[in-house]
Amino acid sequence: MGRKLFPGLLAALLLGACAQEQETVAPAPESASFDTLMAGARLFDMWYDESEAAFIPDDEETPEIDGSGGPNGNGTLNGPDGLPIGNDGHDYRFKNLFGWDMRGDAGIYGREHQAKAWVLATGPLSAAHTRIDRAEWIDRLSNGWAGLPAYGEVLTVSEIASLVDFMLAVRDGQLPRPDDLYALNVDAPRGFILAAGGNSERGHALYAEQCADCHGADATKIIFDDGEQSLGQHARYFGYAVAMITLAGEPGSEMQAQPWGDLSVAEQTQNLLDLLAALCDRERYPRGAGSDPEVPDDDPRCREYLR
Ligand code: HEC
Repeated sequence: MGRKLFPGLLAALLLGACAQEQETVAPAPESASFDTLMAGARLFDMWYDESEAAFIPDDEETPEIDGSGGPNGNGTLNGPDGLPIGNDGHDYRFKNLFGWDMRGDAGIYGREHQAKAWVLATGPLSAAHTRIDRAEWIDRLSNGWAGLPAYGEVLTVSEIASLVDFMLAVRDGQLPRPDDLYALNVDAPRGFILAAGGNSERGHALYAEQCADCHGADATKIIFDDGEQSLGQHARYFGYAVAMITLAGEPGSEMQAQPWGDLSVAEQTQNLLDLLAALCDRERYPRGAGSDPEVPDDDPRCREYLR
């Protein structure tokens, strides 16, 4: 009887698989919870601060290969051919290789915007990859692909799955999308302008509720990057990155993902826009002890939110 049932079952499975392939965008599996997606987002930012893997990337500024961990024991990872991919500044971070907006060379780190030498040609949000499904991305991340190292040598199967689920959730609109948070702009410093529609009054209230305990009422309690920037300044300089870090938390630190798992994507996006609009207020969130200069009055990144 089992034998008779089997072909029918197989046909049903195959039909199901074909039906899915014909859709332009395959949905991310419903099993990935918000927490899993946020863990994937932190791995995307800086996997070796978030994973158990002991890895210190080779320092690209020194001539010798002097990192530690990874398949070669020296802070490098290998490509699909098994040969090391050198570190030319990407530090093997996904946010560097794909760019924060996952569009590779066409995106925020690409040639027209920040012109980072190490950004890959394309990423998960590139038009060329709209039909690439979860299994294919898991294979690419695990075994390496087009300049991407083989992360299967340092990350677990479930870490790679949560990374892929995060990227595809952004692609497929199950998490806030870069386009809804900022627009790429070749004339703006760092190549971006925040999106319209942020409500700074709501943002100030959210800030007081969710951030002030750790970052201080005026966001100057923690100064990032070896004393260069307060949180307000960081948002005014790098809003595209601050948006994603705010949502997901800072890898390896006590800063967790926002407790927004029950909110709709539209509500999550609105909260981020509100917070970014609020942080554009230079008086309320000044540079504090940050050594970097404040953005000037005519800086376009914060648009009309700049105060
Ligand atoms: C539980 C404490 C805590 C809370 C709450 C918290 N943060 Fe953080 N945040 C930190 C710590 C610690 C770091 C890491 C600081 C470092 O790397 O020096 C950090 C880092 C960050 C960074 C990364 C800066 C960089 O280096 O690129 C951003 C952006 C940020 N926080 C924004 C926020 C915002 C916005 C909120 C509120 C929605 C918030 N944080 C809430 C503790 C917190």
